[in-house]
Amino acid sequence: MRYFKKIIKIFIHVVSIIYTYNMYKKYKYLQQILFNEWIKHFVGFIGDGSSLAPGIQFQGGGQRNIYIGNNTCIAKNCILGCWKEYINVIYNPRIIIGDNCCIGEYNHITSINEIIIGNGVLTGRYVYISDNNHGDCEYNTLLQQPLKRELNSKGAVHIGNNVWIGDKVSILSGVKIGDGAVIAANAVVTKDVPAYSVVGGVPAKIIK
Ligand SMILES: CC(C)(COP(=O)(O)OP(=O)(O)OC[C@H]1O[C@@H](n2cnc3c(N)ncnc32)[C@H](O)[C@@H]1OP(=O)(O)O)[C@@H](O)C(=O)NCCC(=O)NCCS
Repeated sequence: MRYFKKIIKIFIHVVSIIYTYNMYKKYKYLQQILFNEWIKHFVGFIGDGSSLAPGIQFQGGGQRNIYIGNNTCIAKNCILGCWKEYINVIYNPRIIIGDNCCIGEYNHITSINEIIIGNGVLTGRYVYISDNNHGDCEYNTLLQQPLKRELNSKGAVHIGNNVWIGDKVSILSGVKIGDGAVIAANAVVTKDVPAYSVVGGVPAKIIK
């Protein structure tokens, strides 16, 4: 066993001389370019200089209703859901993301209605943006399994230009966020946010 471990160590050492870290970085870059060129064909529109990183998942069958502007980057492992149909109910969703945005890793954006993200928006990791819920909170609804409840929307979500959304923020149905607002980490935004304000907490309130 000791000899085997030693051989493996020597083998990996030799591999590291032939296949350097810089080569690995170039390979990853090439992989990203190829992935991006391929995945572009499945969305409604993606502008110049924009990219969708590997690990992206489209849900709900409405990826043709996703429009992305120029120089916008959707980081690794995001979920973009455009639900055209859910348990036999038809929806007409769309997700529009502007120019020069950076959508962080593991963001989950899900629509049955309309989600518009302006230009220059930055989101942290694990941000959730949704214009819908699994049904209302009435007693008769709660008797059903959540997955089997009809989706409902309190309204579209509109996020203005140059908004900064911190890590693990949730933005819920019907919310409008004004230009230049900052949403503090971990906030749950249930009401409109005025432009150029800083909100935080659960539910989010103006903190600055
Ligand atoms: C919102 C934020 C930018 C504010 O930073 P700041 O200007 O330095 O603000 P302060 O630290 O002076 O805080 C102002 C008040 O808001 C409160 N506050 C700050 N962050 C908060 C948060 N995430 N949730 C709730 N309250 C918060 C502070 O406790 C303080 O309250 P007080 O006046 O009663 O003492 C920062 O707290 C934040 O959340 N940044 C997001 C970081 C992130 O997620 N980055 C991801 C990479 S894109």
